[in-house]
Amino acid sequence: SQIKDAVLQFVLGVTSALPESVLPEFAFAGKSNVGKSSLLNALVNRKALARTSAQPGKTQTINFYRVNGAVYFVDLPGYGYASASEAVKASWGKMIERYLHEDKQLRAVFLLLDLRHAPSENDVLMYNWIIDQGLPAVLVGTKADKLKRSQLEKQKKLLRETLGAPKETPLILFSSVTKQGREELLRLVAEMAKQ
Ligand code: GTP
Ligand code: MG
Repeated sequence: SQIKDAVLQFVLGVTSALPESVLPEFAFAGKSNVGKSSLLNALVNRKALARTSAQPGKTQTINFYRVNGAVYFVDLPGYGYASASEAVKASWGKMIERYLHEDKQLRAVFLLLDLRHAPSENDVLMYNWIIDQGLPAVLVGTKADKLKRSQLEKQKKLLRETLGAPKETPLILFSSVTKQGREELLRLVAEMAKQ
């Protein structure tokens, strides 16, 4: 798929009003360090559009990237960032919840899950929350390059079973290193943007 341009358009902090946008939005959610910002860069073919870090807790605001002038990719701060203070965690949680709950342009949430681990309690909560909002969820198993082929099928099954996700819910294996899954993700975005 052709990505012609991607620009950071809005940055939301804890007290910011939601942007008044008319374009469809796709949000990327998941635990801190799961690879949300890296996935976003891989999708738009830019090395460092979204800032990434080996240290969890890098993304601390809700960042809207306008892609091809047609959709927004929304990079969310990660949850479960252990070193953050309780107060900071609570205010980020509220910020993310408010965005997911109130934003009218949100078409789907991509829930990123590290393929090397079983989903956490927070992952299950986030998945259920997306479903409760009536939003389509797309599961993305990240860091696929770190697993052997034989482990991948087993982990896919574990992710689906732990979340209780039906067969109809897409589950895409992804790697920002090899770009595995990129075309599939972009295809899904293009389909959902049309609806
Ligand atoms: P927060 O902003 O803290 O919530 O993290 P994030 O989910 O945005 O993660 P980020 O993209 O910053 O990546 C975290 C770390 O994982 C970085 O060191 C990345 O290089 C690494 N990483 C991300 N995706 C992949 C991947 O597909 N494969 C491998 N091997 N490493 C990855
Ligand atoms: Mg990030």
